[in-house]
Amino acid sequence: MNIITVKSYHELSKISANIIAAQINKKPTSVLGLATGSTPVGTYKNLVEMYRNGLVDFSKVITFNLDEYCGLSRENPQSYYYFMMENLFSHVNIPQENINIPNGRAMDIESECREYENKIRQVNGIDLQLLGIGHNGHIGFNEPDDVFHNNTRLVKLTQTTIEANKRFFNSAEDVPKTAISMGIKTIMSAREILVIAGPDKEEIMGKLLEQSCSPRIPASILHYHPNCTVIWAKGN
Ligand code: F6R
Repeated sequence: MNIITVKSYHELSKISANIIAAQINKKPTSVLGLATGSTPVGTYKNLVEMYRNGLVDFSKVITFNLDEYCGLSRENPQSYYYFMMENLFSHVNIPQENINIPNGRAMDIESECREYENKIRQVNGIDLQLLGIGHNGHIGFNEPDDVFHNNTRLVKLTQTTIEANKRFFNSAEDVPKTAISMGIKTIMSAREILVIAGPDKEEIMGKLLEQSCSPRIPASILHYHPNCTVIWAKGN
């Protein structure tokens, strides 16, 4: 795991956008794994600006998002579909059919998850996976547990995650209690992983750097990825 510490969130956002743009410029048909949450907002802003300045072209890019809440429609401003449209997709030239986000309102969640994995396989896997990290060490919505969960599946969100994400909702009661999340094996199969962590992640970053691999800190599995970079902004 290659750790880059930077002084500010601004710098983190610029560097991560540059890494993603470089990947797309190297391979215009890149398959990207994408994250939501507050950390990637600056990265996506920079990518939109680069696109507007003709520095990156999304016309052949394929994306797979990490997760989606169960029960929220695409039109719901709290859904991750809505987030991605607002922050990135509706501002760049990615074809709609190249965008993949789990459908949290699927009638058959199990087959939705299986299909999601199949689609990733059909495009020969993810070239570059962007990840944020939860205060409890989750990646995607892979919450701390006794074991690592491999595949894309229905997950129950922990109280820590519900508390952390209630800022996007009217109250903690409004936060969905379940979600679909890409599994750990799927994430680890990406050829390259880029983790971004802001100054609010000091405590979990400390644990991640000190401790050995444990499913109690799901992100700790990343120590075993051959090509994983963490950009950590220590200041605002
Ligand atoms: C979001 C996701 C989550 C977030 C994590 C950090 O798609 O997969 O793992 O990356 O909860 O969220 P923020 O960036 O809001 O602190």
